[in-house]
Amino acid sequence: MDIVDAVASRYSCRAFLPKPVPEKIVRDIVERAARAPSAGNLQPWRVYAIAGKRLEELKALLAPRMATELPKGEGVEYQIYPNPMPEPYRERAFTVGELLYQSINVPREDKAARYRQYARNYEFFGAPAALFFARDKSHGAAQWADIGGYLQTVALLARGHDLHTCPQQAWVSFHRTVRSFLDLPDNLMIYSGMALGYEDPAAPINGWRSPRAALDDFASFDGFES
Ligand SMILES: Cc1cc2nc3c(=O)[nH]c(=O)nc-3n(C[C@H](O)[C@H](O)[C@H](O)COP(=O)(O)O)c2cc1C
Repeated sequence: MDIVDAVASRYSCRAFLPKPVPEKIVRDIVERAARAPSAGNLQPWRVYAIAGKRLEELKALLAPRMATELPKGEGVEYQIYPNPMPEPYRERAFTVGELLYQSINVPREDKAARYRQYARNYEFFGAPAALFFARDKSHGAAQWADIGGYLQTVALLARGHDLHTCPQQAWVSFHRTVRSFLDLPDNLMIYSGMALGYEDPAAPINGWRSPRAALDDFASFDGFES
């Protein structure tokens, strides 16, 4: 797949087909994504890939807790959003939430239905494979950013195999369970999960795309010859 198409066709997929993803492909993606740049070539990412019985085990740990523990879960291990959230970010987050729930006909007031959809995070939206990206607790902002670059490289390489992804910081809300499930060393913590699989093209939740700010709202260009 052309790189431009890979970037354009990546989106956060929230309904997957049950078709398994071969381990060979996941290994290939995870290995190639390590070509992502990192400050000082620290390569600060740690990746845990799960599928099959292992993935089902993790889902089974969470399933009985959904009705009572959402949205807080175990509390986050790190703060994901700025608090308070200034504009224009607040509006962008609000809009994407509205579009997501509109796509499945869930009105804003229907909190129970919203939580039910949110709980799908902890089923990896039906994906047959998942990744967890962990970071070393001693690392700082530059390494967080590098792991973000790695995550995006995974998402783009996945497109090359006709796969889709959804990054999932939702898993940070169950960091204790994930830590013990993955047997995470004390020096590491989960940065994000990621669902990985083949998209369900018929699912309404996959039928919308998040908007983006106009180019001139976030970039400036100076000194170029036309
Ligand atoms: C690090 C990271 C974590 C995310 N966590 C979640 C998540 O837990 N659940 C979810 O449904 N979407 C999650 N998203 C997806 C974002 O909502 C999505 O990227 C954004 O709205 C832009 O939409 P797009 O990815 O479809 O282009 C996450 C994205 C990133 C980059």
